[in-house]
This record gives sequence, structure tokens and C-alpha cells, in this order.
Amino acid sequence: MDTQKIMIEGAMHMETELLLEVLADPQEQVVGQWRFVEGKYHDVNLVVAVTSIGMSNAAAATALGIERFRPTAVISQGTAGGHDPALKAYDIVLGRRSFDASSYRSAQEDLVDWRHMELMGSYAYDATMQSFIPQEVYYPGDEKLLAAAQKVAKNYKRGRVIAGCIASCNTWNRQKERLQFLHNQFSSSCEDMEVNSAAQICQQYGIPFLGIRILSNTEFRAEEFQPESAKVCQQFVLAVAEQYEKDRTKD
Ligand code: 5AD
Repeated sequence: MDTQKIMIEGAMHMETELLLEVLADPQEQVVGQWRFVEGKYHDVNLVVAVTSIGMSNAAAATALGIERFRPTAVISQGTAGGHDPALKAYDIVLGRRSFDASSYRSAQEDLVDWRHMELMGSYAYDATMQSFIPQEVYYPGDEKLLAAAQKVAKNYKRGRVIAGCIASCNTWNRQKERLQFLHNQFSSSCEDMEVNSAAQICQQYGIPFLGIRILSNTEFRAEEFQPESAKVCQQFVLAVAEQYEKDRTKD
């Protein structure tokens, strides 16, 4: 394959602003209601998807972006809240895997103990409509994207970069006990509202995908949302896109 085009997704204005600024020769298109801007960053062909917040927006923008722009890889990037107590704001989580934290079956019991739950996985599209039980709980990140990100991580000065697990759903958890439980039970490093949705759609299309999330807040350190982190994440992701392109042309 001679050309590569990476779709980089962001949900909030602050999470796409820098990406849009650096694009050379930007070409904008609206597909459905979702905004996409194509352009070049150094030698890399990019399409920036402005998804808006949440799982449904992420899924819709990912599917529409894939259909219209045929990217060869997709990155869902942006801010996240900490689940791993060892992490602090500006640490970055590379999504070695992700899951839908809203998809669970509770135990059958009279009293409410929300911890008695079993993850169900996301309901991947099934044209036969035969399967009632979703097949997959954890969606893996692409190895080559992950390798590129790990190379870039060596030069990251603002915090740690770990390959971890991203818990996605339209929830903002602020209860330490719950955060700690999710981390212990399902090994999540952080939570966001987009990654697993985009991962699911990319898996269905067979397109390499990686979630890259920067901690903008964590209850374990009483760190409130830090908008500057969104910018730092975009800078990191641009470096990953360049590295991924470099690795590909070497192969
Ligand atoms: N919980 C859930 N989502 C978060 N985000 C940042 N911090 C958190 C958190 N603690 C991200 C989501 C969404 C927006 C609200 O910010 O991915 O896009």
C-alpha cells in the first residue's frame, strides 16, 4: 500500500483545536452532522474527525469517517479520568485494550451491591441477528500503532506513558471506591467516553485502531479537569502519527 491516511478523532473543541491548526491545506467536509478536516501534517495524510462527546457520536463519526475517507488507521485521542491510583494528570494511557464499562449484567439479588457485576462486552453488529450474548469484552489496540506510540513515549516529558486498559461509557465516576473497584476488577487504567465505541467500529471494518488518552483529572490526587492536558495529548498523538508513517515506510 503506498499511501496511508490516519484518522485522528477528538470529542471536544479543546481536543481537536491543535490538530486542526497544524493541518496544511485543510479540506473540510461535513458528513451527516459530523465534521471532518483532511490535510497534511509533515509527510502524513491526516483526517481529523470532530466527533463531539460520547459513545454514540464516536461510533457514528468513526463509521462515517471510514466510509468517506477510507483511513488506513484510526486513533481516538483526548482526555480521561484516572482509575489506576498510581497515575496522575498528564500521564498518558495507550489503550492496549478497552472495554464498554456500561455493558454489564448484575447479580440476581435482593440488595443492591453494584460490585456484583459481570462485564458483557459491546454488542458488535451481527447481520444474522442470532447472537444474544456479545462475543468480546476487551477490544485490543493495534500492535503497530502501539509500537509507534511506545517509541514516542521515550521523549515524553510531562509524565509517564503506560500501555493499559481504557474503560469507556457515558459516565463520569467520582467515587473513589468505585474507581478503585473498576481498576482492581477489570484492570482499567482510566475512563473516557469514546474509545471503546470507536474500537468496536474499527474492528468491524478491520482497520488498525488505538486509543490514546491523557489523564486530565484523577480523584486519587484530587486533580480537577486540566484543559491544557488536551493540547499535550494532541502533540503526543501527532508525533505518534509521524512515527507510524516512518515505521511503515521502513517496512
Ligand atoms: N470520566 C469520563 N470521561 C472523561 N473525560 C475526561 N475525563 C473524564 C472522566 N473522568 C472525557 C470524555 C468526554 C469528555 C467529557 O472528556 O472522553 O469526551
